[in-house]
Amino acid sequence: MDKNWWKESVVYQIYPRSFYDSDGDGIGDIKGITEKVDYLKDLGVDVVWLSPVYESPNDDNGYDISDYKAIMKDFGTMEDWEELRDELHNRDMKLIMDLVVNHSSDEHYWFQEAKKSKNNPYRDYYIWHPGRNGREPNNWKSSFSGSAWEYDENTNEYYLHLFSKKQPDLNWENPELRREIYDMMKWWLDRGIDGFRMDVINFISKVPGLPDGKVKEGEKYASGSKYFRDGPRIHEFLQEMNEEALDLYNVMTVGEMPGVGVEEAQKYTDPSRNELNMVFQFEHMDLDSGPNGKWDLKPLELTDLKESITKWQVGLNGVGWNSLYLNNHDQPRIVSRFGNDKEYRLESAKMLGTFLHMLQGTPYIYQGEEIGMTNVQFDSIEDYEDIETLNMYKEKVEENGEDPASVMESIYAKGRDNARTPFQWNHTKHGGFTTGEPWIKVNPNYLNINAEQAVEDEQSIFHYYRELIRLRKKHPIIVYGDYQLILPDHEKIYAYMRNYEEQKLLVVCNFSDDEVEFKLPQEISFTAEESMIGNYGYGEFPSDSYAAFTLKPYEVRVYKGK
Ligand code: NOJ
Repeated sequence: MDKNWWKESVVYQIYPRSFYDSDGDGIGDIKGITEKVDYLKDLGVDVVWLSPVYESPNDDNGYDISDYKAIMKDFGTMEDWEELRDELHNRDMKLIMDLVVNHSSDEHYWFQEAKKSKNNPYRDYYIWHPGRNGREPNNWKSSFSGSAWEYDENTNEYYLHLFSKKQPDLNWENPELRREIYDMMKWWLDRGIDGFRMDVINFISKVPGLPDGKVKEGEKYASGSKYFRDGPRIHEFLQEMNEEALDLYNVMTVGEMPGVGVEEAQKYTDPSRNELNMVFQFEHMDLDSGPNGKWDLKPLELTDLKESITKWQVGLNGVGWNSLYLNNHDQPRIVSRFGNDKEYRLESAKMLGTFLHMLQGTPYIYQGEEIGMTNVQFDSIEDYEDIETLNMYKEKVEENGEDPASVMESIYAKGRDNARTPFQWNHTKHGGFTTGEPWIKVNPNYLNINAEQAVEDEQSIFHYYRELIRLRKKHPIIVYGDYQLILPDHEKIYAYMRNYEEQKLLVVCNFSDDEVEFKLPQEISFTAEESMIGNYGYGEFPSDSYAAFTLKPYEVRVYKGK
């Protein structure tokens, strides 16, 4: 297997709006991030991924870009951004930027032009169609509720928007549009960035003719994903993007890919195909959803998690590369989701972190994960800001008459604002995030959960994450070893081995509130030499007990041996 810096790195994701506000306007900003660069260095991460900081009307918090080459005023200036880049680079950290090119904002110059007339030179940068029998051109639904089409009176046509109506989809069939995107990428690369995280990049190639999807019973619109996910020209477009832009630089790429399967991901990440270094897949994030999608709550079955993770670990080993994540700005907080954010918050957060960082792939930490930030429950829907949540609430409660209390329950479990409450820096007002009024309320638990306290306390999740990162630098097996599942049917313990050259790692995780007996299966050959890390006192458990022991609630142990 090739050795690469991005395989050996740990990435930290920053959602700038919620990270740190340096000027008291209630919105996180770039200078705020720069002030916290030493905190990141202290944690030990190698790469920072910035969620979008470009000019945007903020219909979807920056994922609707109106100028790809300008910094959002709320966040600061280009000089602020250059300073952040330099402060990261001076500390040997890298900076990757979000690339959102499945769609732009409807306030982007291209779209402003495009909607002027059917003959406008920018018209074909977007996807326009006449209506069908007085209705939308097809039956696709938007990810943010309702139809994926918006009618434009001026030209009597509809445009496609897979997300909000302020996020029109770009037409990748148009070579001029593609050229503009590659030029824009080079413009950023020339400014010294170290790579891109690419937003819903497996949606950019649509099946010609945009056929209807199948409408589920009781629903108005269909998922069209079959006709735009991993579409017919996606691999060609990504290869072209490499030839035209990325190949000229030594950078990393990660493609966000909802619904991608492991076979397709093999193609996306196989280095010989020159497409992407890794993808964000979502299978493990969908295991606690029922047949009706993310708001349809279902408890996680540990055996499902094993099956899914194992498929990806084995499927990409030696072929491509995995990204490893349990949190991001679209997902609820993992300690509240797969752990126990009350009685066992510390233990379960550390266990989940260990589980993830010991797998094969590049680990991503989402801001606040390293201090065990939790989900939030605001009393009123008025306190929520996320467009996906608000549109869904409106559709379910106001249009379909569903019970508001049960819709709120699903928002508490799955809403994206769980991840977007301000970072909790200390115990002062608003968690020290801002001296003004925060754009979204702070989670009231900042009094007990905050970075200042975590940095001071040697037993904190923060220090434990530091140790996980340090171990990765020290032991190549954590990066390059292969993966082998043991005890596939156990409902509470997730245990796996890593193998590399003459070495082995045994990782044993208790995913439950109970004490559980672990027994190493006889057919597994392993002899522990060292207890590497665990969450009930770092690596202080006895190394000779590896073959059979009792795990405390959410206990994790990692043994190194032969
Ligand atoms: C995925 C991003 O992570 C999410 O936040 C955004 O709403 C959609 N793509 C649309 O850009």
